[in-house]
Amino acid sequence: MKNSSTATSRQYAPIPGTSDIAPPPIAGLQIRDATADDMLAVQAIYTPHVLHSSATFEETPPSVQEMQSRREHVLAQGLPYLVAIINKEIVGYSYASAYRARIAYRFTLEDSIYMAVDHAGKGVGKALLAELLARCDQGPWRQMIAVIAGNNNLQSIGLHRSLGFKHVGTQPSTGFKFNQWIDVVFMQRALGAGDTTLPDSQAKSLAVAAADRTD
Ligand SMILES: CC(C)(COP(=O)(O)OP(=O)(O)OC[C@H]1O[C@@H](n2cnc3c(N)ncnc32)[C@H](O)[C@@H]1OP(=O)(O)O)[C@@H](O)C(=O)NCCC(=O)NCCS
Repeated sequence: MKNSSTATSRQYAPIPGTSDIAPPPIAGLQIRDATADDMLAVQAIYTPHVLHSSATFEETPPSVQEMQSRREHVLAQGLPYLVAIINKEIVGYSYASAYRARIAYRFTLEDSIYMAVDHAGKGVGKALLAELLARCDQGPWRQMIAVIAGNNNLQSIGLHRSLGFKHVGTQPSTGFKFNQWIDVVFMQRALGAGDTTLPDSQAKSLAVAAADRTD
């Protein structure tokens, strides 16, 4: 999988079978691989979501060091960890991770994406996730799952729908935060050839390397 810095000059093809429209260009927006130095800003973006939103089920903001170590774990699996930058300010980040640890899940990823609160709703999240998907489309993986906390998280549901994800299920009341039960919404989109072909042997070994194996 390509893992070099990439700006947002990419033209996104519409996803077959959806009304997806390629994200329009956003003035001054750059999307590139996160660096170690970016993680201070990434931690600052994540912290208010942890403290004030049920979009994440964490309750204690992770330290910069912890965020750094999570990024290194993502990179060690050959997966992308991206930041969105406007006017030299990091305004959002997104990364892919193994969906689940068991070996049979090795072709399935989960995405995570967070925008700085005052930069949400301007199309940047869509451009950022589109780039993440484009990167993962090039790798051996075949499915991307969005695990969305809260059936009222219309921003995240709208974002994923706009990029071709379909609602595949809801687990009622699986989370508990801010003294209320929270449903978990699952949305899914194929990566690359999806399930239309079997993986070739080279892809198999790549995906195995990307998965957390516990057995
Ligand atoms: C979810 C999040 C990343 C989306 O990023 P964003 O920059 O706000 O989203 P965009 O402005 O790029 O919008 C993307 C799409 O979602 C749609 N959308 C956004 N908010 C919506 C809402 N409240 N209702 C319906 N659709 C909505 C937009 O219309 C757009 O689709 P379109 O291009 O077809 O019009 C951002 O809002 C965020 O950080 N939210 C809090 C954290 C979170 O929930 N992260 C996801 C965890 S799974």
